[in-house]
Amino acid sequence: MTSMTERHKTLEKNVTLLGIAALGAVVIGGVVEIAPLFWIDNTIEKVEGMRPYTPLEQAGRDIYVREGCYVCHSQMIRPFRDEVERYGHYSLAAESMYDHPFQWGSKRTGPDLARVGKRYSDDWHVQHLKNPQSVVPESVMPQYGFLAENDLNVPDIAANLTALRRVGVPYTDKDVKMALADLEAQADPEADAGDLEERYPKAQIRDFDGNPSRLTEMDALVAYLQMLGTLVDVDGAAAQEELALERGR
Ligand code: HEC
Repeated sequence: MTSMTERHKTLEKNVTLLGIAALGAVVIGGVVEIAPLFWIDNTIEKVEGMRPYTPLEQAGRDIYVREGCYVCHSQMIRPFRDEVERYGHYSLAAESMYDHPFQWGSKRTGPDLARVGKRYSDDWHVQHLKNPQSVVPESVMPQYGFLAENDLNVPDIAANLTALRRVGVPYTDKDVKMALADLEAQADPEADAGDLEERYPKAQIRDFDGNPSRLTEMDALVAYLQMLGTLVDVDGAAAQEELALERGR
């Protein structure tokens, strides 16, 4: 007993010894936390239905980021009763696994948009984006009518997909090769979309901006908004999560 106390006293009084011992404790703790990350492929549980975004959705997402929509809108429904009642099922980690960068946001001047897809018609979105106050008179949202005037101009959509692939989004070689054709076909119901829907299940194929003769930034942004929250069958996925928890207990 005394010798333990003696030894501890020596350790406490010797700065070098204490430093080495503290370093040892931190290293063990660090290794235990960090090492497993080298052996697992993914920290996010896969959820059925989640897929990479179509080139058109991805282009719309880039406009969303460019215009700073995230400054006023979040895309993360928290698991609180008031949020779930207003916006729907709370967001799952897997639902933003292909977002680079993620759009969770930290400010809600406007509502959360994580599940806004299919909640309104395309016409509503176009009208609202052109002039929010014409739909919601007290709205403080800026007007984005110019999006309907701008041709969608993506210099090299295949390069965008390749870059995303490098950071882990599983686009196939065919997805990359077909990127431009896919981009144009999704907004043009007259075009031959090929196997677009097989490669991107639940892709919505139509003219989004109400002007079938042109492919505009409005087409891309509305295609993106109409997809949000529609890919994963959340109640099914939540049931899966519940099951995984049960098994872990
Ligand atoms: C200055 C803050 C602000 C910015 C920036 C902004 N919004 Fe909004 N947004 C709002 C507010 C406030 C509302 C609620 C009133 C309304 O519907 O206009 C709203 C509503 C919406 C809605 C309807 C959501 C719902 O569930 O009813 C959509 C969709 C939307 N915004 C999309 C966008 C997009 C896309 C952009 C970027 C191009 C954007 N907003 C930029 C403030 C903003």
